[in-house]
Amino acid sequence: MKQQVGIEAIAVAIPRRYLAIEDLAVARGVAPAKYTVGLGALEMAVADPSEDTVALAATAATRLLRAHDIDVSQIGMLVVGTETGVDHSKPVASFVQGLLGLPRTMRTFDTQHACYGGTAALMAACDWIASGSAGGKSALVVCSDIARYGMQSAGEPTQGGAAVAMLVSARPELLAIDHGTSGVFSTDVHDFWRPIGRREAVVDGHYSIECYLEAVAGAYRAWRERATARGFLNDASMPRSEQLARMIYHAPFCKMARKAHLHVRRCELEELAGAPLDAAALAREEREGAASFDAQVAASLLLASRVGNTYTGSLYLGLASLLHAQGTELAGQRMGLFSYGSGCSSEMFSGVVGPRAAEIIAAARLDELLADRTRIDIVEYERIMQLPREGTIAASPVPGTFGFAGVRDDRRTYAGSAAVA
Ligand code: HMG
Repeated sequence: MKQQVGIEAIAVAIPRRYLAIEDLAVARGVAPAKYTVGLGALEMAVADPSEDTVALAATAATRLLRAHDIDVSQIGMLVVGTETGVDHSKPVASFVQGLLGLPRTMRTFDTQHACYGGTAALMAACDWIASGSAGGKSALVVCSDIARYGMQSAGEPTQGGAAVAMLVSARPELLAIDHGTSGVFSTDVHDFWRPIGRREAVVDGHYSIECYLEAVAGAYRAWRERATARGFLNDASMPRSEQLARMIYHAPFCKMARKAHLHVRRCELEELAGAPLDAAALAREEREGAASFDAQVAASLLLASRVGNTYTGSLYLGLASLLHAQGTELAGQRMGLFSYGSGCSSEMFSGVVGPRAAEIIAAARLDELLADRTRIDIVEYERIMQLPREGTIAASPVPGTFGFAGVRDDRRTYAGSAAVA
């Protein structure tokens, strides 16, 4: 039997403040429905400078280790997927290793390719375990980012931030990944990038949507071919995506997941018909596509709608949202996951939900994380946005979390501890 590999447990860290998206719309003189309906957003996480990529990553990793009582001597690899690291050379992974006091007997590094960096990290960990190189050890994979486009820009309502920490092992009790079945698609495009030294991303927004849609179709087809060969998809008369219990998409904003799902269906329907859809088929697809989105995708978007874009963590927040909402009923079922990183690189893969998924995700206490946040007004949001990158916030981090505490002797320092009072 093939070696099992995948996600054993998951934990999340989100900034402690948020802005209601309607408040942003009113302040920018935009109809709120453009953001709530047009983009599918409700709230947006606002990270202050103390909640940087390292602090969020260390907080999520601490929560994971504590909630599941993980023996750190059994972790042999720590990989952080991020595109908003804090140093050109020293990886976020080594800060996390130090803050958590993890053993020295592990491989540590960061992976970067825009939002795809988290999936690059996850797949590196899966390959390491499946190859036997891990020698029975597990990997800690953390996706951590602050999504920042800047005030008054078209991307402003699609900002956010979070970290997702995952234990990856040969005991994938949350999600057993169909290792070796991924479909990939990549190409050199300037859809979104962040030149060295700049804090805000540069984006060609509408073009980035086109790039994403081209990538999802390409990666999906490549995955479908391999999944069909492995016998996961047996009915050639219907869209193969419908043979997955759920689909989770990278969600820079929730409406993007809807666009992606409808695009995948449309490509499949046209392939099945051998021609572009006629008017009657298009009218039918308008109804059926909407119903398919509601059934297959909507439940994975809860956190994205309340936190915003989280770059590398987005897909895995989608997984957490879905299992939080439907973990019990999905046990034993196969789902598809699509990861997209601008630039671009993308990957479609699949996995089977473990029997203990609902219990494991409950330990992430997602409802509490959302409820514990403070809603801020537009004035406070704009004040925080204008704080210098290395500005510090007086309040010390609550136990069990970390915060950036300033630069001393050219070294970034952090306050906080893994201990919970
Ligand atoms: P925009 O140009 O201001 O918005 O920016 P728009 O005019 O395209 O409108 C947005 C939607 O609202 C449209 O819906 C409108 O019709 C609708 P659609 O036609 O697309 O379905 N709308 C309304 N709906 C209801 N009531 C109204 C109303 N008015 C308009 N009154 C854009 C939108 C997404 C381009 C912008 O926010 C942006 O640039 N965002 C950042 C880029 C982005 O998220 N790209 C996504 C793909 S790339 C990606 O996923 C990678 C990424 O995560 C980075 C990485 O990899 O690291 C970004």
